Amino acid sequence: MRSLTLIAPAKINLYLEIIGDRPDGYHELSMILQSIELADQIDVRSADTQAIRVHCDHPQVPTDKSNLAYRAADLMAMQFPDTFAKYGGVEITVKKQIPVAAGLAGGSTNAAAVLVGIDLLWNLGLTQSELEELGATLGSDVPFCVAGGTAIATGRGEQLSPLPSLDNLYVVLAKYRSLEVSTAWAYKTYRQQFGNSYIRDTNSLAARASAVHSGGIVKAIFDQNAGEIAQKLHNDLERVVLPTYPQVLQLREVFANQEGVLGTMMSGSGPTVFALFESEQQAQTVKLRVREAIPDEDLELFVTRTTSHGIQIASSL
Ligand code: C5P
Repeated sequence: MRSLTLIAPAKINLYLEIIGDRPDGYHELSMILQSIELADQIDVRSADTQAIRVHCDHPQVPTDKSNLAYRAADLMAMQFPDTFAKYGGVEITVKKQIPVAAGLAGGSTNAAAVLVGIDLLWNLGLTQSELEELGATLGSDVPFCVAGGTAIATGRGEQLSPLPSLDNLYVVLAKYRSLEVSTAWAYKTYRQQFGNSYIRDTNSLAARASAVHSGGIVKAIFDQNAGEIAQKLHNDLERVVLPTYPQVLQLREVFANQEGVLGTMMSGSGPTVFALFESEQQAQTVKLRVREAIPDEDLELFVTRTTSHGIQIASSL
């Protein structure tokens, strides 16, 4: 096999609770992550040189070492130097559909696709949990992007417990093209403002993290009750992002006032806002209404759907 095409889905956060600080400087989180059909396409090809190269024609996506997809290939080369020497370099082409710096794990899912792609290209035979472990060294969301579907994520976000898949919900995403929110900024600001309410002792931290397993939204997911899931959406980072970015707050309010919206929330550290629907028609209608309410060309709107898939192979040669 010389080349592979992979589909790398985005994610939304149905739930994001910040529990406390971790000794590694990150936050202890309790999240529910959901893959959506909106996806990037990643081509991974063996090259005749010993170089790793990333190609992407999106102006906001770097093609150097700061690209997580590059770092994923570099990690594989360092972990498996003999295989790297045998198979040669890797050319990675990213065809972007997922908005950048949006809270949708666009960079993380590209990295996940590169890990899965190189594993196949080099015949490494890694297990999913080995790929997830490698992914965790690149970013907190990468393990989930390898696995996909619906899952509880705790720790930094890298400890996953799968949930029954929700592949019947429609999603409208709204994101201002020129608006980016740094994840590091969002968490740092949250710590500055709300750090005094963090849980500090280790036992209470663990108890709080595991409480999500028996929480209302997880029960609603087991019951496949879309209305109840949508009522229980939650994201602590809204407490810092919405007051700082009035455009994001406005999107939340515009969605909340539309008929047919089951629930609305910001995804991850934002600034993407999503709304959930039972039917595609309702989603398309609300997309049009939001466009009428905010006739700003900078605002991108997508209709997509929840999916049970993580990284998928579209073709191999
Ligand atoms: O892991 P990732 O690189 O995606 O995280 C980006 C930034 O978000 C981190 O540098 C950190 O500042 C913050 N973060 C955090 N706690 C987490 C995940 C991310 O504080 N659990």
